Amino acid sequence: MVNISRRRFVSTAPTVIAGASLLSACAPGNDPTDYSSLAAEIRRDGPQLGPGEIALLQELVRIATLAPSSHNTQCWKFALEDQAITILRDPLRRCPAVDPDDHHVFISLGCATENLLQASLAHGLQGEAAFDVSREAIRVALAPTSAYVSPLFKAIPARQCTRGDYDSKPLSSEELSLLERAGASSSVRILLITERPAVERVLDYVVQANTAQMADPAFVRELRSWIRFNGVEAAHKRDGLYSATTGNPNIPTWLGELAFGLLFRTKGENDKYARQIRNSAGIAIFVGQSADKAHWVEVGRCYERFALQATALGIRNALVNQPVEVQAVRPQFATAFGLASQRPDLIVRFGRGPVMPYSLRRPVQAVLV
Ligand SMILES: Cc1cc2nc3c(=O)[nH]c(=O)nc-3n(C[C@H](O)[C@H](O)[C@H](O)COP(=O)(O)O)c2cc1C
Repeated sequence: MVNISRRRFVSTAPTVIAGASLLSACAPGNDPTDYSSLAAEIRRDGPQLGPGEIALLQELVRIATLAPSSHNTQCWKFALEDQAITILRDPLRRCPAVDPDDHHVFISLGCATENLLQASLAHGLQGEAAFDVSREAIRVALAPTSAYVSPLFKAIPARQCTRGDYDSKPLSSEELSLLERAGASSSVRILLITERPAVERVLDYVVQANTAQMADPAFVRELRSWIRFNGVEAAHKRDGLYSATTGNPNIPTWLGELAFGLLFRTKGENDKYARQIRNSAGIAIFVGQSADKAHWVEVGRCYERFALQATALGIRNALVNQPVEVQAVRPQFATAFGLASQRPDLIVRFGRGPVMPYSLRRPVQAVLV
């Protein structure tokens, strides 16, 4: 069966693409220098503040947008007020096939909220986040306080979803408890799985759900629209999933689309997941107390703290969400991990491994209301 991976299309390096990389030698974007300098500029850790409160608020928005978002859609908008920033969803950046109820959208907004709160404190502003049910938005009220540069804030530019291989080594119990503490709250639970039989059970569900997604034409069409096959295309759009972030070569867009449709197969992808889940130190499952938008935002905040804490410790993470995305698989997955009456929200593998190229973000002006 001809098949295509999900966002992890880009995370397989089949020999055919290795062959195609010969072609890529003449492809636009083969030289990653421009891409790398743009990525570094987007993730600069020093502020470039002009005078005035607006400049500060815009700097906080820039740091908020360094958060993860599903398919790197950057599905957010920011409304600046006097002493407040409201984070809204961008309805033009939904993914109805993989995320029909906007679950991932609200988790992404939660990740941006956490960055915004960390950045506010580092700039001498205490942020108070509240979910506004009528607007389905998060309003962060800002009040002056003493500046505190937290280790989580410092980790924001270096955080990434690292889709490469990890080194198979376990984490220490101190590291695991720091991750656990960072990733939980009064309404979000985190299950850390490190025993091998349980990790294998997670893998079984990832393979089952990935196989279902790859056979779903709507899922595949939507995914393809977010893939950026070379540095020029990625730098032009500044969103989506750039293939090099998973270690694959730049290829011309036409070839990428052809390869995407013809050359990627379920087995190769599933084998890669088996390898990468097995070479991870463990799996984290995030579960909100209720399945509603306010809790999805809270899950996003917890996941982002987990990811920042991991980054601060030199630990990588990547999402393997297929079992929570495929509706037919999700209840079985929940039952298998003792969550029968709850909706598991995110599945994350973690461990140590090399950094991959960073993803891009659109300019601040593009995300302001
Ligand atoms: C709610 C949510 C769901 C995601 N699901 C997946 C996933 O299943 N697989 C994956 O490889 N990445 C997943 N991602 C990661 C995004 O693709 C990633 O954040 C985005 O490409 C930006 O890259 P960065 O996090 O490295 O900055 C998800 C991110 C979020 C916030």
